[in-house]
Amino acid sequence: MFNKEVYQKRRSELSKSINNGIILLLGNVDSPMNYPGNIYEFRQDSTFLYFFGLDHPGYAAIIDIDENENYIFGDDIDIDDIIWMGPQPSIKDKASEIGVDKVKPFKNLFDYIKSAQNNGRKIHFLPPYRPENKLLLQDLTGIKANETKANASLELIKAVVKLRSIKGSEEIDHIEKIMDIGYEMHTTSMKMAHEGIYEREIAGTIEGIALKYGGRISFPVILSRRGETLHNHDHSNLLKNGDLLLTDAGFESSMHYATDNTRTFPVGGKFSQKQREIYEIVLATNNAVHKAVKPGIFYKDVHTLAAKTIFDGLKNLGLTRGNTDEAVAAGAHALFMPHGLGHMMGLDVHDMEDLGENIVGYEDNQKRSEQFGTAYLRLARELKPGFVLTDEPGIYFIPALIDKWINEKINNQYINFEKVNQYRDFGGIRLEDDILVTTDGGRNLGRRRIPITIDEVEEMIRSGK
Ligand code: GLY
Ligand code: MN
Repeated sequence: MFNKEVYQKRRSELSKSINNGIILLLGNVDSPMNYPGNIYEFRQDSTFLYFFGLDHPGYAAIIDIDENENYIFGDDIDIDDIIWMGPQPSIKDKASEIGVDKVKPFKNLFDYIKSAQNNGRKIHFLPPYRPENKLLLQDLTGIKANETKANASLELIKAVVKLRSIKGSEEIDHIEKIMDIGYEMHTTSMKMAHEGIYEREIAGTIEGIALKYGGRISFPVILSRRGETLHNHDHSNLLKNGDLLLTDAGFESSMHYATDNTRTFPVGGKFSQKQREIYEIVLATNNAVHKAVKPGIFYKDVHTLAAKTIFDGLKNLGLTRGNTDEAVAAGAHALFMPHGLGHMMGLDVHDMEDLGENIVGYEDNQKRSEQFGTAYLRLARELKPGFVLTDEPGIYFIPALIDKWINEKINNQYINFEKVNQYRDFGGIRLEDDILVTTDGGRNLGRRRIPITIDEVEEMIRSGK
């Protein structure tokens, strides 16, 4: 946990931005996998962590704006729990570490909400994403579980997004440190990428690295020689020399901050000429994005810059043709990069996505594109110092998508399908870094950049032989 002043300051900022009423923040509870006693690893709600820091199931918190008070609701464990789980500090002791001295039994939350309702006070809550909390909100407020999301407080959502979007120096220092573990995960993947190994052996090893450092993975590892499947969680392939292996993986620290990087490299450590040509385009795009990031620029425009860099690079290889601006405006690049350039990152790898992608990633007056590809862009808004975001361009050859575009003659004038067909078995390349928006530009997070030039990558792979 950070020191208590950090949490006190965050709560005080939040209180100032809400007019009146009470803010109800629900922590998460344990969730069963296949029978009640066999649970998924506990993951606390990120907004609860941000304001209250307590990483334990079964808590809720209230910030009472009208009375200027903070409360934690929860129950101390009893002797049965101690027998199975060992002794635990009392909630009162834990709450004092985050500067809260009003601790109540969980059941008192019901009276608190009822009394607030009876007095006509506004109850602000965030959109719940877990069924347990939808049901709890139903019991607390009388709003039907499946209507709780629609009844969440827009005022609260916007206030939370505003605060969480700008990372404090304590958060940046922490993320900077944990990038070292992402580095170890990715360089281990490179070193293991040799003929005769199964993808699952590498995926399991890098997940083990995350566990070894007292954290976990920030999302299920994506690791496959079939990198053209954007979120490929299948790790069953046996690798052979020359396969392009895409590894998209990140670390989640014990404080639940994320890292998220992607590297793509040839098994055995030697890029073919064809791989090298496509790789250099993706690398140039990643670097161009990094250079373009600065306060005041819209990430939508950086996405467009990436799309144009990719389209131009492919034009040099004869895969695309025509006027680049017109082609990108028509969405022709999306045959190769059918996803958005990046997303916010913080306590969630896709930071605050539970609060609404458009609220987090778009300005109020910015309309989300409905065009294939760009519609997936999660982050489009104007960048501000303190944002942490990903820079993750890619080029993919997705046979089913190529066939669809050929059959439906989509963007025919901009794509040389005959040439594209020669890449049907190529796979996909994505290169992802995590960037902090500074006062005058952007800075790659991490003491060392994970090897990314062709020479660095080939050398790292070969060092593992
Ligand atoms: N790295 C996975 C994602 O951003 O979706
Ligand atoms: Mn990402």
